[in-house]
Amino acid sequence: MGKKRERRSAPGSGNRDNRAESSTRRDNQGESASGRKLVPFLVLFFIASSTISVIVYRFKYPPKHSRDSDAYQQDIGNSDLSYRDVLTENSKVSENTSRRHYDYPVLGYITPWNSKGYELAKRFNSKFTHLSPVWYELKSQQTSLVLEGRHNADTGWISELKNAGDALLLPRVVLEASPVELLTKKKQRNKAINLIVTECKEMGYDGIVLESWSIWRAYGILHEPSMRNLALQFIKQLGEALHSVSGRKIEQQLQLIYVIGPPSSKKLQEHDFGPKDLEILSEVVDGFSLMTYDFSSPHNPGPNAPLKWIQFILSLLLSTPDHRAKSLANKILLGINFYGNDFSLSRAAGSEGGPILGRDYLSLLEKQRPVLQWDENSGEHFFFYVDDDGHKRVVFYPSLKSISLRLEEARLWGCGISIWEIGQGLDYFFDLL
Ligand SMILES: *[C@@H]1O[C@H](CO)[C@@H](O)[C@H](O)[C@H]1NC(C)=O
Repeated sequence: MGKKRERRSAPGSGNRDNRAESSTRRDNQGESASGRKLVPFLVLFFIASSTISVIVYRFKYPPKHSRDSDAYQQDIGNSDLSYRDVLTENSKVSENTSRRHYDYPVLGYITPWNSKGYELAKRFNSKFTHLSPVWYELKSQQTSLVLEGRHNADTGWISELKNAGDALLLPRVVLEASPVELLTKKKQRNKAINLIVTECKEMGYDGIVLESWSIWRAYGILHEPSMRNLALQFIKQLGEALHSVSGRKIEQQLQLIYVIGPPSSKKLQEHDFGPKDLEILSEVVDGFSLMTYDFSSPHNPGPNAPLKWIQFILSLLLSTPDHRAKSLANKILLGINFYGNDFSLSRAAGSEGGPILGRDYLSLLEKQRPVLQWDENSGEHFFFYVDDDGHKRVVFYPSLKSISLRLEEARLWGCGISIWEIGQGLDYFFDLL
């Protein structure tokens, strides 16, 4: 676990805190293969359904983006993108940064090891309904529990953020505490919930984003029906406790957003978060941050989040009776990656590669002047290049077109979105939100 975590550290990260992210990614890695096998079966069906979807969408929501720059408009629809377009356009944003283009909830993650996100959260505050700095871990300490991370919280930034707009502030808490103790002992559960609620009150948060499923899964907790049930009960109890506290705005309660991962294969496994869990928890959870990214890995290079895979996950999670599906979809925050991947295609040791952020992507474009290609199958842009050591590499990084396709998809379902993470993208991505 430790080794992988370190290697998966995002470039430019200082970092200690993206463990949960890495552990989730780790879970996904072994699953890419099965996920990939399943894709071809779904291709035909999805081509048909997405064509219809796009037609319906165009009909229902004619394009209304009114940015003055024609280049921007072109790039959105453009699969034939040149590196020059990206270099000249990426920093230009429309003058009115408070106009929203996406009507459902938009959550943006911010990481302390990539401080650009803090600035962007203020600048584009109105684009977001929720902002989640990844600050906290709830840990076991001897026989008790501690909530670590207050040192990450910058009170100056918090008050600037609140002045900048209405986006709710919900720091992420990763539940690292030993799950058996926590779930089976009433005293521990109460303590955990009390720590979280107290922190929200003292710091003026609007609630939290909780990540625990990936950890519980790694501990094997979710394979055991009685423990799995206790796990769900814990989330319920936490949600109820948060909802019983009023927030900083009138008629508002503290919120709970819960992080969920994609299913591990075509067929739902016991440890996967499924449609039943969604229904059970939807009463006490205000949103589900769905991690629809990291489909590929250094050992299995490819697109980050194939559109058909996203469609498959949504249809699986929302395979409930129609009227329920609609209201449940409103609570899902479809994950959209603002980072890319730079993978090695050679088998040389130590050259696997990993995540690439906006600024590194731009320098790579400047240096390599690559031909950007559009992968019709996944709906992502990519390019090849040869690095200084002579290794062939492939880079998948989001583009206006790839992001807008995913926004269209989310809109069709009636889902919100969650962005990992805002400091990793390019400025003009925010115009889409
Ligand atoms: C910016 O957009 C918002 C929301 O549409 C609108 O209320 C506001 O008047 C706009 N500001 C300017 C300067 O156009």
